Amino acid sequence: MTPEAFLAFTKVLPEPSLLLSAEGRILAANPASERLGSPPSRLKGRLLFELVATPREQLERYLATCLGSGQMVPGGLEWLDGEQRPRPYRCEGAAVRPAKGSPGLIFLRLRSKEEAGARFALLNQKIDELTRALRQRIRTEGALRESQRHLRELMEAQKRFVNDAAHELRAPLTSLQGNLEVLLSFPHMPEAERQEALRDAVHEARRLSRLVNDMLALARGDAGAALQLAPVRLDRVLREVVESAQGLVRQHRLSLGPLDEALVRGDGDRLGQLVLQLLENAVKYTPPGGSIAAGVRRVDEEAELRVVDTGIGIAPEDLPHVFERFWRADRARVRGEDPGGTGLGLSIARWIVEQHGGRIWLESELGEGTTAVVRLPLSDAAGA
Ligand SMILES: Nc1ncnc2c1ncn2[C@@H]1O[C@H](COP(=O)(O)OP(=O)(O)O)[C@@H](O)[C@H]1O
Ligand SMILES: [Mg+2]
Repeated sequence: MTPEAFLAFTKVLPEPSLLLSAEGRILAANPASERLGSPPSRLKGRLLFELVATPREQLERYLATCLGSGQMVPGGLEWLDGEQRPRPYRCEGAAVRPAKGSPGLIFLRLRSKEEAGARFALLNQKIDELTRALRQRIRTEGALRESQRHLRELMEAQKRFVNDAAHELRAPLTSLQGNLEVLLSFPHMPEAERQEALRDAVHEARRLSRLVNDMLALARGDAGAALQLAPVRLDRVLREVVESAQGLVRQHRLSLGPLDEALVRGDGDRLGQLVLQLLENAVKYTPPGGSIAAGVRRVDEEAELRVVDTGIGIAPEDLPHVFERFWRADRARVRGEDPGGTGLGLSIARWIVEQHGGRIWLESELGEGTTAVVRLPLSDAAGA
């Protein structure tokens, strides 16, 4: 770089800028160098060391570093102003390669400390604002994408649900319709057959009604129906449900306990419904003569409800599916008569548990029995 090229290049720079020889002689100074205390033309030809209060060795080391580096090297010096007072400057120096073979030159840009401080403060502020705006934008876009994804998933689930529901409703309807048509077409059929067709029709109508009730319960959950949460003693809910079920459970031993005092924030009716779903499954999938035990304990700051049965159990490959809507184990595995169900019970149970900020899972061994476990956060009286 020639001094002329340097001047053309640095004319518009607001900071004093110098072109130095490797020895530290000023070859050119841009117009802004006037701020250093003397006209640029008077700087030309002087040695940098004569114009500063900075120790010569220190400055020489710095210039050598600039010459050896491929980048801008930050540094500092004290320039002697018109009245020979030292003024601190930050500087940046870089090697400029003149024509091939000639010695290296140094481009040195100076910034007074106050100026640099103010500029940096402003720059930092701008950078902060930009970063904040950017972060905000990323958050907003992320949230938007997330809610779009959620919406798509909900719509998919809804479509699947309607599809499955129609499918599930069709079987009992077809059977009901068939039985009623038989009854209509053969008014003089034998009494025994007539009774059977009627019994079948009632059975299917009940099944339809159960399906519709379960579907309504889930639809309310999908619609985001919020529960009314209040302090509830889970152990008392369990005791009440089990006691009222005792009379209905004739072919199984049903035992209650342990019953730790467990206060949770919950909806008493829904929790009762949850317990009933789990008991119903235990009874339905346990052959007569088996036993069922239900209890509540306090474990790790949580209330733990367990319903244990000695029934047919669930195959390991089926276990991941039990909470899916309409899912039921292969009927061939359910020995004897199909106990009838909608496949929605555990979906409803899970919805209730999630509304209470809890978790639910099944532990099972095929042929040995199943344990349904629910964990709900305990609520101390103060937090309730
Ligand atoms: N205690 C249990 N023992 C064995 N299998 C169970 C038990 N609880 C649930 N299951 C299996 O999980 C399936 C889904 O349960 P659920 O959603 O309550 O539907 P449903 O009882 O109406 O069939 C049941 O059909 C059954 O195959
Ligand atoms: Mg069930």
